[in-house]
Amino acid sequence: MQVDVRQTSLGEADAALVAIGLCEGGSLPAEIAGAPGAPDAKGSFKTLTRLYPGGPERLLVVGLGAQEELDAEKLRIAAALVAAEAGKLEASSLAWALPDFEDEAAATEALVTGTILGSYRFDRFKGSGGEEDEEPKTPLESLSVLGPEELAGAAETARVYSEAANRARDLQETPANFARPEDLARRAEEIAAATDAVTVEILDGDAIRAKGMGGLAAVSQGGPVDPRLIVLRYAGGGEGPTLGFVGKGVTFDTGGIVLKPGAGMQEMKFDMSGAAAVLEATAAIAELGLPIDLITVVPATENMPSGTAIKPGDVITQYNGTTVEVNNTDAEGRLILADALAYAIELGAERVIDMATLTGAVLIALGSTYAAVVANDDELARELSAAGEETGELVWRLPLHPEYKAMMKGTVADLSNLAKKREAGTITAASFLEEFVDDTPWAHIDIAGTAWDVGRPYTGKGGSGYGVRLLVQLVRDLAA
Ligand code: BES
Ligand code: MN
Ligand code: ZN
Repeated sequence: MQVDVRQTSLGEADAALVAIGLCEGGSLPAEIAGAPGAPDAKGSFKTLTRLYPGGPERLLVVGLGAQEELDAEKLRIAAALVAAEAGKLEASSLAWALPDFEDEAAATEALVTGTILGSYRFDRFKGSGGEEDEEPKTPLESLSVLGPEELAGAAETARVYSEAANRARDLQETPANFARPEDLARRAEEIAAATDAVTVEILDGDAIRAKGMGGLAAVSQGGPVDPRLIVLRYAGGGEGPTLGFVGKGVTFDTGGIVLKPGAGMQEMKFDMSGAAAVLEATAAIAELGLPIDLITVVPATENMPSGTAIKPGDVITQYNGTTVEVNNTDAEGRLILADALAYAIELGAERVIDMATLTGAVLIALGSTYAAVVANDDELARELSAAGEETGELVWRLPLHPEYKAMMKGTVADLSNLAKKREAGTITAASFLEEFVDDTPWAHIDIAGTAWDVGRPYTGKGGSGYGVRLLVQLVRDLAA
């Protein structure tokens, strides 16, 4: 989407649709206060009122609720509601009058974010069949924020990370027969090709096995699709330690020999949401030129059942030499992340964040509102919480404890990939991962509840792109 900031009056906005926020008890600008319908406009949050002042433009008043309760999340939601209206009206251009809010840069970012995320559609597989009533609608192509021109930088930053989030949603939505490990690798190659500051390295199945990445090798052995271990390195400089991102890239999770039930299994195309988030966050961080060194590692594979698949009870050796009893083939994410975490640290990551659709248990604990963060480092956990509050991609910390760790001990091997009890499933999974990071500051983010069907107005159903904006914000905060 084309995004700019201009200091013009409503009358000169030159857009097919002009949006104005109205707080409870507030009043509309004098130049439109006399338009037909204006007295009926309401400030209650999310109420939309269309006005027809008589020019070619249409005006939309959006209720923002109480002025003292206005925040960035409300503005993202309001912007998404406007984007939906723009879709219905087939408006290709939109102007947003900057509402009265103490932090104008934050308000600008929120409007741009809500508009770009809110107008996202995944229509790659729709519409070429020639159905008359399926005619493609005019998409929203441009957004102007009406405000001081020094906000142009904030608008551009938000455009970059919001479009990155939408690209992550494309990867999420793409079905598993089109989004295979090699396709994620190809996307990583594109990200590296876009800038000299990013380099890429890709290991195929033979290289993965030769390196002794026993977890990734084991999960992939059930199917014919060759796995990939993807590494992106971004050299942005800066003073701080090298950051590591690791993302779970299971392009389809059948459960393996411990096959999942058929109902809802199609959702398991989303089991690469962590990979999508870290890849596109890396792309956005590089595009913004943020001053940090970053290593991003994605283990990518399908998890399939077959005569060659890993079986319950099989013992594997992970990249760092730890042996693991695979007591449940559906707990595959931790096996591939274990190799990837150890590898990222070996490559030089000094603080590591992994993101994964790891456990159904996190949905029971936190629903789709918060992702769970489990960390061995208080500072990193705090920084993630702060970035979550800023972006609306919320995280809530769950604890580590030696008692959880004890639940992951193996009978015949060092560890089991299945806890002795079902309770605290999100934490026991994280406790397993903790065995592979030694003393490196590390945070694990379980996004199984937040990666799709979140239901917020700016993400709706389907892939949410969760994590891209969170990780970009974390790096912006670190660099500030
Ligand atoms: N990919 C799933 C987790 C998941 C479940 C994500 C539901 C989104 C929605 C993961 O690989 C898995 O199967 N986890 C198991 C672990 C269990 C066998 C210990 C789970 O959560 O049931
Ligand atoms: Mn699984
Ligand atoms: Zn999985």
